[in-house]
Formats: sequence, C-alpha cells, structure tokens
Amino acid sequence: MVATIYVQRGAKRVSSSYTRHGNQEANVDERRAARYGRIYEQLCGLIDGKSPDLIAAMSTICAVLHAKMSHHFWTGFYFVDGERLRVGPYQGPVACQILERRGVCLEAVRTKRPVIVPDVESFPGHVACDPRSKSEIVIPVLDGGEVVAVFDVDSSEVDQFGEADVEPLKKILTLLCPYL
Ligand code: SME
Repeated sequence: MVATIYVQRGAKRVSSSYTRHGNQEANVDERRAARYGRIYEQLCGLIDGKSPDLIAAMSTICAVLHAKMSHHFWTGFYFVDGERLRVGPYQGPVACQILERRGVCLEAVRTKRPVIVPDVESFPGHVACDPRSKSEIVIPVLDGGEVVAVFDVDSSEVDQFGEADVEPLKKILTLLCPYL
C-alpha cells in the first residue's frame, strides 16, 4: 500500500466508477492512466526549462490537470508554514486560505504519505472548504525528506481516487523538484 486510505466505516460501497468491479473499473483505470501519461508529457514541455519559478510550475500543473481531468472539482497546492498550511496556486472554487490543526492536508504533512479519502464524511476532522467536495486525494511534496507543500485534489463525487492515482500524480510532481 502506497497511501493511507480512509474508508467509510460500515457498509461496503460499490456504486461509483472507481469501486465498480470488472471491465468498467478496468476501463476507467486504463483511460485515466493513459490521460495521466499524456498530461505528464504536456507538462514536461510546459515546465521543464520554461517555468521561471515554483509558483509558475505549480500553477501550470493545476491548470492542465484541472482542465483535462473531468473528475477534478478543486486542484491545488498548500504550502507548509510552521504548524499551519497556506494556500498556493489552485483552480476551482474559492478555497480556505489557511488550514490549521486538522484536516486531510495536515494528515499528509504529519504522515509524509499520500492520503486518499473516498468519502470526506468518513474522515474525522476533514475541512470542508466547499461542501460540494465529496472525495479527496492529498500528495505531500517533499524536499530533502521534509514536507514543504501538499498537492490536493477534490472531487464532487465520492470514490473518485484510489491507489492508481498516487504514482502518476507523484511523477507529475517531480517536475517541481528543480524549483524546490
Ligand atoms: N479538505 C481539505 C481542505 C482543503 S480543500 O479541500 C481545498 C482538508 O481537509 O485538509
């Protein structure tokens, strides 16, 4: 397991695109994997040797992923700022500007691991910047073993993220390394 996954207590849910079994799930995963590949190539061309700084590179990642991934409702970064998180570049509805004490993003900082939340209502302490967000994935951005930022994606439907999203998103975030 590469990420911490918070599953809903109780009933097993099989209704969404990500948890469907058989061909449907495979098709969703394959299409998304192929799309991640194309997005990575596009972002290499846009960022590598072209982005002037970290903010520009982060903004470009948000813009491309948010436009190309239809399940993204909010796509963005938070910077670690002492004990709290400060919002960085993002796309989507207006977000919380400061996160403190609790939440999925701070859990990824604390554990230094990706966090997947299939249903935000099952995560104690989830911060609902927008009540339309239903599922979430957070990937920490590390520099020399320390978390300096997190990349956060929300979807307006439950069960939109899984382990299969972790490695492609981490690969995309390696494009930030020259700027950290
Ligand atoms: N849900 C996050 C807060 C950030 S928003 O999703 C944009 C959290 O619980 O940390």
